[in-house]
Amino acid sequence: MNDVHSLQRDASQFLDRVVVELLNRTTVAPSERPARLGALFVLEDAIDIERVLNAPQVFEKDFGLVAAVGPSRFNMNGADWVNLRAKTQRHYAKAGKPSYLSVYRDIYDAELSALETADHAGLETAISRAALRCFFYALGIQVNVADFLPHFRDLRTMAELLQFRSWIAASEASSELTTLSRELTRIRVALWDTCQDSPELVALFNRFATQGDPFPVETIFSDFLTNMFAGIETTTSSLLWMIDCLSRSPDVQTALRADAHAQIDARIDGFRDETMRLFSPIPFVVRKLSHPARFGETSLQAGEMVLISLVGLHRDPRYWSTPHEFRAGRPEFQRTAPSDNVAFRPFLTGPRVCGGRRIAEMEINVGLRLILTHFELNTRAQQTGFRYSLAFRPVLTEALEVTPITAPPAPTHA
Ligand code: HEM
Repeated sequence: MNDVHSLQRDASQFLDRVVVELLNRTTVAPSERPARLGALFVLEDAIDIERVLNAPQVFEKDFGLVAAVGPSRFNMNGADWVNLRAKTQRHYAKAGKPSYLSVYRDIYDAELSALETADHAGLETAISRAALRCFFYALGIQVNVADFLPHFRDLRTMAELLQFRSWIAASEASSELTTLSRELTRIRVALWDTCQDSPELVALFNRFATQGDPFPVETIFSDFLTNMFAGIETTTSSLLWMIDCLSRSPDVQTALRADAHAQIDARIDGFRDETMRLFSPIPFVVRKLSHPARFGETSLQAGEMVLISLVGLHRDPRYWSTPHEFRAGRPEFQRTAPSDNVAFRPFLTGPRVCGGRRIAEMEINVGLRLILTHFELNTRAQQTGFRYSLAFRPVLTEALEVTPITAPPAPTHA
C-alpha cells in the first residue's frame, strides 16, 4: 500500500538526481555529452535555446501530470493561453512598474524586522510571507497570508510527485495514481476553502471568470494556485541562495553591506546575477514539439520532448570564464546587461518569458539589500544541500547563523 510519504521519498531523490545529471553533464565537453536525458533531447546551446523560446507554436508547453493541478496559463497554448494570460498579466504589468518598488520594500522591511527567531527557518518564513504579500498586492487585494503559507509544504510535495510521475510512466491502474489523485483532491479542497474565507479573493475569481473571455471558475482557481505557488517558490529560492552565498563570503558580505547603506548598486546587482546564474531557481524547462524540428544532425518528430537546461546554458564555457566558479564580481555581468546576455536566462525569454519577472526582480533587489542591512550571516556548513520540487532551493540548516544587526543608537543632543 503506497502512502504519500513513501512516494515522496522516491520522487524527491529522483528529481534531485535529474538536477545532478544536468550539473554533471557540464563537466564534460559538449561533444561528449549524451544527446538525451531519459527520453528527452537536451538543449544547452544559447542559439538553440533562443530559437526554441521564440517559437512557442512549435515548441509547446506540456507539463504532463503537473497539469493534474488543473488548467493554467503555465500549461496552456495558443488562443486559450492568450485569453487566460490576459487576466493576471494586466495586474502584473501594473505591479511591475517602478512606482511599486517602495511598497515591496516596506513589505520586506516589515517582515524581516518582525523576525521572531533569528535562524534559517525564521528567515525562510519571513521571506515567504513577504513574497506572498507582494503577490497579493500585485493582484490588487489584501489577504491574510498566514492562512496560505501552511499549504505550501503540501503543494511542494505534490509538485514533486507529479513531476516524478511525468518522467516515469505509471500504469493507469496503479494504486499509486489513486493515492496521488486522492491527495491532490484533498489539497485542492483545503486551498479552495481557504480562498473562500477571503471575500476579496472570491470577488477576484468571479471577475476573472466573467470579465473578458469567460473561463470556468475552476480554471481561474487552478490558474491562481499555479501562479501563487510558482511565484513564491522561485522568489524565495532566489533569496535563500543569496543568503547561502553571502554566508560563505564574509568579505563580500561586508563590502555589499557598505554598498547597500551607501545605495551603490553595481556590486550588489553583480552578486545577484551571479547567484541566479549558478543557482537558477528553475534549472530546466520542458517543451513538446508540435511539428518536426532539426538540431544539428538530429531530427526530432512531432510529439517528442526537449529539455532546455538552464544549468547547462549558465555554465557554458563559451560564454562564461571559469563557469563553475562563483565570482561575486563576474566580469561578464559588468560587460553586458543581463537581459542582453543570451547565456543568462533565469526568467527565460520570448513570448513565454516569466509573467512576473519585473515584480520578482524588484522583490529580489529590495529583499537582498534589506537582508544585508538587517543581518550578519555566517555558516558552519562545508556544503549546502539542495531540494528540487518546482524550484531549486537550498536546504539551509542550523549551521547558518543569523545575527540581527542592531541599528546604532540615534545621536542625543545635550
Ligand atoms: C526569481 C523569481 C522567478 C523566477 C526565476 C521565475 C522564472 C520563471 C520561468 C523560468 C518561467 C517559465 C516556465 C516555463 O516556461 O516552463 C516562468 C513563468 C512564469 N512566471 Fe515566473 N519566475 C519568478 C517569479 C515569478 C513571480 C513573482 C510571478 C508572479 C507574480 C511569476 C509568474 C510567472 C508566470 C505567470 C509564468 C507563466 C508565463 C506564461 O507562460 O504565461 N514568476 N517564471
